[in-house]
Amino acid sequence: MIPTPKAWLNERKNEYYFKKAKEENYRSRSTYKLIQANEKYCFIRLRDIVVDLGAAPGGWIQAARKMTGKHGYVLGVDLKPIEPFTQEYIRTIIADFTEPGTVDQILSFIPRKADVVLCDAAPNVTGVWEVDHARQIDLAEKALEIAQCVLRPNGSFFVKVFEGEMLNDFMLNMKPLFEEVKLVKPQASRQKSSEMYLLALCFKTTREVKEEN
Ligand SMILES: C[S@@+](CC[C@H](N)C(=O)[O-])C[C@H]1O[C@@H](n2cnc3c(N)ncnc32)[C@H](O)[C@@H]1O
Repeated sequence: MIPTPKAWLNERKNEYYFKKAKEENYRSRSTYKLIQANEKYCFIRLRDIVVDLGAAPGGWIQAARKMTGKHGYVLGVDLKPIEPFTQEYIRTIIADFTEPGTVDQILSFIPRKADVVLCDAAPNVTGVWEVDHARQIDLAEKALEIAQCVLRPNGSFFVKVFEGEMLNDFMLNMKPLFEEVKLVKPQASRQKSSEMYLLALCFKTTREVKEEN
């Protein structure tokens, strides 16, 4: 079948990021999604402490480590082992962040509360859109629970979601907890995929949330 011009352009773009990741020694093409989002919104800064949930093979860890610099720290969490890095101030742990004990493990591995929590975790995809959407939102909800325990006041949360009917409710749950919540679709994310990211800025303290209610 002859691809439509749009499909052809998308394929070329995917190939472009795949090759770019190889040339620039990033472990995933997804790395560019984080780089592009941070170029636009600057939520990861020098000296930051970053927790990356669903981090294997480690492309976002590499990018976050560059953004935080030599005085920053990145903790990656994944079900799978992550090949070690040569740089200092990166730690990785094998853990399921949906399990209740994982939050304490994360807190024990970071020197202070995190400035940023990232989540690019993806469930096993079934191909049934409603199921995949629900699983992705479920992971995003669990990541939000972790973020609420490990973020410092004014910290940021960047999480993958799939477009769909549950997204609106998830955003409504997030909004009271942060000053600002926006949907982001980085250029490196496949146009035909329903994948998007939510960027939540300025995490509020429990007191601030209570005072507003
Ligand atoms: C798309 S990959 C992440 C890619 C990563 N951002 C990068 O640039 O290398 C999604 C990861 O989420 C992980 N994952 C899914 N569910 C998880 C869970 N409950 N706990 C920890 N990791 C999880 C998977 O094992 C997989 O490695």
